[in-house]
Amino acid sequence: MTYQDKVFRVEKTPADFKFGANVVSVFDDMVTRSVPFYLEIQRMMTEIAIDFAVPGSNVYDLGCSTGTTLINLDRVLSTDINFIGIDDSKEMLEKCKSNFDNAGLKRTYNLQYADLNKGVKLENPSVVIMCLTLQFIRPLYREKLIEDIYSQMNENGCLILIEKVLGEDSLFNRQFIKYYYDYKRRNQYNEMEISQKREALENVLIPYKLMENRELLLNKGFRYVETFFKWYNFCGMVAVKNTTI
Ligand SMILES: C[S@@+](CC[C@H](N)C(=O)[O-])C[C@H]1O[C@@H](n2cnc3c(N)ncnc32)[C@H](O)[C@@H]1O
Repeated sequence: MTYQDKVFRVEKTPADFKFGANVVSVFDDMVTRSVPFYLEIQRMMTEIAIDFAVPGSNVYDLGCSTGTTLINLDRVLSTDINFIGIDDSKEMLEKCKSNFDNAGLKRTYNLQYADLNKGVKLENPSVVIMCLTLQFIRPLYREKLIEDIYSQMNENGCLILIEKVLGEDSLFNRQFIKYYYDYKRRNQYNEMEISQKREALENVLIPYKLMENRELLLNKGFRYVETFFKWYNFCGMVAVKNTTI
């Protein structure tokens, strides 16, 4: 059961945003009202994953939250592809497990509690998804995480990355933020909710520019890096490993 997100509707003592029990119970409502085209992004990730997921391999969702992405993928991928969801919120993993049970997942899966700031161990991955998760990894550890993903990724496998991003220059950055807050207002978030959430996320969600993410992926070895989604300060990218000369 998902409730309406009212996490920041009452005045709070300033504190960093956490994916704890209060957020987990409203997360699906929060993400659909806070991320433009979230459902379309989910659909696009599924469409892309179908073309890269290989029978007998593993599909990873890093920062799997309540399991929405893997549940969507379960409907379309062959059942001999295993799923691995990783998250560092025990409450999220519990909710994810119960959502998997309700959805009757048709394959072998494994949910792992791990901190991605410490890197990641992958086995036989053809698709790795990070949907709105890299932005929460401390900048100091992002290069190592992308390096880990690239080095363990199967040949011709892909990383699907969805991120909140900064505008390439400060003029558009300011405008994009303004348009984004208008979007939140249209989705019934009030001024206090918008400003309290912004403050809570300030030290926790650190967006890069789209070009910085692109450079990061290319520098770590990914050969093909394409942007498949862009809405002001949100983007979706796919990066493919291919080492043939
Ligand atoms: C915005 S949510 C991801 C949304 C989800 N992927 C989706 O498609 O709806 C970010 C998730 O990353 C997890 N997370 C944040 N920092 C993490 C870390 N250092 N290690 C592992 N998981 C982390 C959070 O617990 C949360 O579930």
